[in-house]
Amino acid sequence: MKIDVIAIFPEILEMALHVGILKRAIDRDLLEVHLHNLRNFAEGNRRTVDDYPYGGESGMILKPEPLFAAVRSLEPTEVTRVIFLTPQGKPFNQRIAEELSLETHLVLICGRYKGIDQRVREKLITDEISIGDYVLSGGEVPALVLIDAIGRVLPSALGDYESAQNDSFSRELLDHPHYTRPAEFEGMKVPDILLSGHHQKITDWKRDRSLEKTAEQRPDLLHKFKNNEVLD
Ligand code: ADE
Repeated sequence: MKIDVIAIFPEILEMALHVGILKRAIDRDLLEVHLHNLRNFAEGNRRTVDDYPYGGESGMILKPEPLFAAVRSLEPTEVTRVIFLTPQGKPFNQRIAEELSLETHLVLICGRYKGIDQRVREKLITDEISIGDYVLSGGEVPALVLIDAIGRVLPSALGDYESAQNDSFSRELLDHPHYTRPAEFEGMKVPDILLSGHHQKITDWKRDRSLEKTAEQRPDLLHKFKNNEVLD
């Protein structure tokens, strides 16, 4: 999969591509990520990418010309998904990460300032995605969130495939507690059941703890799980 990112501060994403699962996916040619600075597509000495909004509101708007030039330079095809990161987008989740991991080419557009010219939305953008109901100073961190979530579910990107399958949201419940050695730390003991070697009891314990955790933190998920609803 190839991902092109268009941003005013692409350096925000740089470091994350050099560590962990993303680095491994890139080294194994499962993933290609190209970072593009929007200013390189802007005209004039000052390489201006924003301008005042028509209609007299406060705040600045990203101009259409640099964004059109940037997307066109990437030679998008019919299968390219051009995604704009915005708080007005569809809420991102594990299902969308898995769906996007099957694509061949994604272009991520990171906004800044108050917004982007509507003509970019109408002509270039195929999807709008939000990473949550809060407003960040730009789309770079949300783009990184998408790349990370997508990168780790790319076929064979994660060494331990089972571990991805077992991730909280893949199983539709939150995760149960985990312990590693030592069996006792500062008087706190690992639950006996985990040391018992009794597989069925351990499975039941994990499931019960998952249900408890989900009921406590995310009753909405538990409700969907109990009613056998597909999570969206
Ligand atoms: N840009 C600013 N805030 C955002 C958010 N919550 N999700 C996606 N893009 C954003």
